[in-house]
Amino acid sequence: MIPTEVIERKREGRPVPGADLEAFLQAYLRGDVPDYQMSAFLMAVCFRGLEGGETATLVRTMLHSGEVLDLSDLPGARIDKHSTGGVGDKVSLVLAPLAAAMGMFVPMMAGRGLGHTTGTLDKLEAIPGFRTDLGLDEFRAVVSRVGCAIIGQTSEIAPLDRRLYALRDVTGTVSSIPLIAASIMSKKLAEGLDGLLLDVKVGEGAFIPEEERALDLARLMVEIASERGLKACALLTAMDRPLGVALGNGLETAEAIRCLQGGGPSDLRELVLVEATEMLLLADGTGDPHRARHIAESKLDGGQALERFTRMVEAQGGDATIVDHPDRLRTAPSLAEVRAEADGVVIGVSARLLGDGIVRLGGGRSKLEQTVDPGVGFEVHASTGVRVARGDLLGVVHARDPGAAAMGSDLLRRALLIERGGTPVTRSLVSHRIHSDGSERLL
Ligand code: URA
Repeated sequence: MIPTEVIERKREGRPVPGADLEAFLQAYLRGDVPDYQMSAFLMAVCFRGLEGGETATLVRTMLHSGEVLDLSDLPGARIDKHSTGGVGDKVSLVLAPLAAAMGMFVPMMAGRGLGHTTGTLDKLEAIPGFRTDLGLDEFRAVVSRVGCAIIGQTSEIAPLDRRLYALRDVTGTVSSIPLIAASIMSKKLAEGLDGLLLDVKVGEGAFIPEEERALDLARLMVEIASERGLKACALLTAMDRPLGVALGNGLETAEAIRCLQGGGPSDLRELVLVEATEMLLLADGTGDPHRARHIAESKLDGGQALERFTRMVEAQGGDATIVDHPDRLRTAPSLAEVRAEADGVVIGVSARLLGDGIVRLGGGRSKLEQTVDPGVGFEVHASTGVRVARGDLLGVVHARDPGAAAMGSDLLRRALLIERGGTPVTRSLVSHRIHSDGSERLL
């Protein structure tokens, strides 16, 4: 294998033979292919794409560059879910313990917020003491004892992906569908799962806003899973507005706890129930969606999911009294209310602007190594389609100081499109279901 030949083939749109691609990737891992050659290759992939066999080689090499968990001794199906990330997406915090209460084992490796999207790890770390850096043995032990655990990707899992992702991040090569699909799936395959639910967000606040590209990503990830013998299903879910009311790490964790208590915003609860139903269908091949939904509702409303959450928080070193006092997560000292200046209808709520707003308030990051402020964010009470009267409360900004609160108020106003009349056009919460036999549009 000659590295320049691999790069040139890809540049010209000719497929790279599997053995050469694997040798190129292994040479990169050993340090024999430098970052500049790998960057050139990744850029060529952005323009030319990858063929099925090339994607499979990339996934296999990334997966086996590290450890693959063996959780086969657990007495139940190992099912996880992955979200491509959005604004206000706190589903995993509710879903993992709910799925555990439904009898599944959920070994979840999650990510941090980057750019305008927030991350599950940052939300959990808003709970005092909560550790997301368990070693693999401790992780395994918590999953076995509690039924679920949520940690960050450890250095043992898919190290080649970790290096490639860091390189893509600084070379403008993140947004290639095969590279994204291979990156996500190499990590998920390393979890040793029986089933995987993929929540692919679509809309202006999503990592991939366009429906066609989001569908391509969903299809490719399901295909990769299927080729490697992993049952997978993907849902396309709405991110043309934020999910729920609370945006920002601690505020979102508090909202997730309210959902676990049987309350919380209706869109969050519905998405959790839809996803829990799909996870149970993946776990139990018999496939009765009504029964699966009924079990999900009863475990959420019966308090069993909350009980699993509490045990997970304790097992991961967190202060479990937060479950009885979620308002303690509202720690920002400067609050500012935003009220309607005129009567009208809410035509849109910009997830993208609000996601960027969280970063500006200090609750997100533009580089992975930055720390985040867990207390800041927004409560957005105005939802699309709702009629508001002058003086109605539209939202609340949670900020570190009055200057930041004023900046946040201005941003929240700009994020809310309110007109005298008109009908908003919004995506349905769950618009498509993609599985190995094809895809369905859900209306
Ligand atoms: N998330 C990942 O894990 N990898 C990507 O390439 C993009 C998003």
